[in-house]
Amino acid sequence: EDEEFLAAFQARIDAELKIEPNDPMPAGYRKTLVRQIAQHAHSEIVGMLPEGNWITRAPTLRRKAALLAKVQDEGGHGLYLYSAAETLGVSREELVGQLLSGKAKYSSIFNYPAITWADIGTIGWLVDGAAIMNQIPLCRCSFGPYARAMIRVCKEESFHQRQGYEIMLTLCKGSDEQKAMAQDALDRWWWPSLMMFGPHDADSTHSDQSMAWKIKRFTNDELRQKFIDATVPQAEFLGLTMPDPDLKWNEEKGGYDHGEIDWDEFWRVVKGDGICNRDRMKARRKAHDDNTWVREAALAYAEKTAARETA
Ligand code: ACO
Repeated sequence: EDEEFLAAFQARIDAELKIEPNDPMPAGYRKTLVRQIAQHAHSEIVGMLPEGNWITRAPTLRRKAALLAKVQDEGGHGLYLYSAAETLGVSREELVGQLLSGKAKYSSIFNYPAITWADIGTIGWLVDGAAIMNQIPLCRCSFGPYARAMIRVCKEESFHQRQGYEIMLTLCKGSDEQKAMAQDALDRWWWPSLMMFGPHDADSTHSDQSMAWKIKRFTNDELRQKFIDATVPQAEFLGLTMPDPDLKWNEEKGGYDHGEIDWDEFWRVVKGDGICNRDRMKARRKAHDDNTWVREAALAYAEKTAARETA
């Protein structure tokens, strides 16, 4: 790749022109996108597990219908994202293979267990809330197929966040036990939600280049700060206490200061040693194996149809 090509590519990016799959692009740009989009797709698919676990135990029919729809949406997001990655010349089999072999990363957050019904509220409120904060700017990502996929994903995430917050509102207006359950879920999910945004900017390997290529529009710390500032008043409205004694409003910066994030825990979870990593991978491998016949049948049908059309 000569300098002239790289400069012309950067000029397109700087002019806010979208890059489409058949456009020439630096190998590094393609590689970064395949990595990020695939990790994102895997996160959506693995993310179905903690909540899917509660579908049969939802407290009312209405809650069950909403949760079922939400978990289905996550599956759909995974599929749009695998399709967006495929436009970059990588196959879905290869990407899924990387997830199942443990080679590919997916979001740390999905390695924590959903223990009570309040966890379902908290996941919607915080995890989907963090996902929206991170994904709204991705609607303006320089790569066209990823940016366009994000528009619908963000609309659906917004419904997910509201269904979660509404569960929390109901619990917090309920009995003392219900309110305690909500507080306990917040205590367990707050810090892992902050870790979703990734390492501090100084430790983020890809941020500088991804910002220059306008794949990312904000850094990890910028998005984490926006999330904290938006979420603290929501916790106050619920009458819940954030599990961070150092959290306090900083008038000068117009945002909250917060305590130290436990990065040892973060890297431990990312490297496969969180509470649920092994269970999550086991569940995905089992689903893949159990459904081999569906893939085989779909393939045989497609081949038959194609043969009939050419005959
Ligand atoms: N969980 C697991 N791995 C993470 C996380 C996390 N929360 N945050 C960062 N990492 C990994 C990165 O993937 C990277 O690893 P790699 O080099 O092996 O690929 C490494 O830590 C260093 O991080 P960064 O250099 O900051 O990585 P990047 O620039 O890709 O930023 C981020 C990370 C913010 C997650 C980015 O990839 C992104 O915006 N992705 C799209 C959104 C997404 O995937 N969301 C998933 C959760 S939301 C949901 O599914 C509902």
